[in-house]
Amino acid sequence: MSDRLHALKLQLGFGVDEAVGDTPVDRYALSTLDAAARQTHNAEQQAKDSRTRPKPNQPSRMPSGSSQDALESASAANSAQTLEDLRATVAAFEACALKRTATNLVFADGNPDAKVMIIGEAPGADEDRLGLPFVGVSGKLLDRMLAFIGINRSSVYITNVLPWRPPGNRKPTQAEVAVCLPFIKRHVELAAPKILVLAGGAAASTLLDTNQGISRIRGRWHDYSSPGLADPIAALPTFHPAYLLRTPAQKRFAWRDLLALKLKLQEIG
Ligand code: URA
Repeated sequence: MSDRLHALKLQLGFGVDEAVGDTPVDRYALSTLDAAARQTHNAEQQAKDSRTRPKPNQPSRMPSGSSQDALESASAANSAQTLEDLRATVAAFEACALKRTATNLVFADGNPDAKVMIIGEAPGADEDRLGLPFVGVSGKLLDRMLAFIGINRSSVYITNVLPWRPPGNRKPTQAEVAVCLPFIKRHVELAAPKILVLAGGAAASTLLDTNQGISRIRGRWHDYSSPGLADPIAALPTFHPAYLLRTPAQKRFAWRDLLALKLKLQEIG
């Protein structure tokens, strides 16, 4: 076996699942730098906090790093007044570690004025490479599902709860979701669709703030509300296309959900 083939097999064994650049990046060195930068930031923040410590009758700051980061993202998200603003705000946001391992920001695709907004969980390898949501195998199935009810990407707006790919497609941590939540909530407020389709358990439980599994809540219409919305939005949780690819027997339920979506679109005209 040639040395190169041998090296490639070794990398596969280590869990490498894609080639993203011509030059290697030492992620361990980056995360050490990152930790050092975070420590300096925290020390500066603590010094600043002690100078501006709230008076006894004022609410105090939340102590943990991730809560602080979530407060930061909430204030950044709420300052965005347009989708372009929001994209720029997310692109400039540094307090989510996923940004540093991702190749591209995956903000959205499709038509921002569409009546239907589809929200998945997080970008995968193909999405990360191209900077667009749902362009890999699950995206192909999503396209076929939309075609089944006579719509396509130009009649929907598509995004994810997380705008950066978790390394190796691992499940996002609760802290990562909490930090990115204000961005997706603001994204929905600014796009203000008539209908939300929540693709998969992660998107559904995060946005509907429920612990119930996707099998229980899929196919039923829920009201999605948030402070920046004039009226609640009709939200339909359904199975994630990646799950349907792994479990084709569940597709019949997804088709039912699609028919419910088609009917709702006809109702709202
Ligand atoms: N899965 C998701 O949830 N989102 C994507 O963009 C791709 C795969």
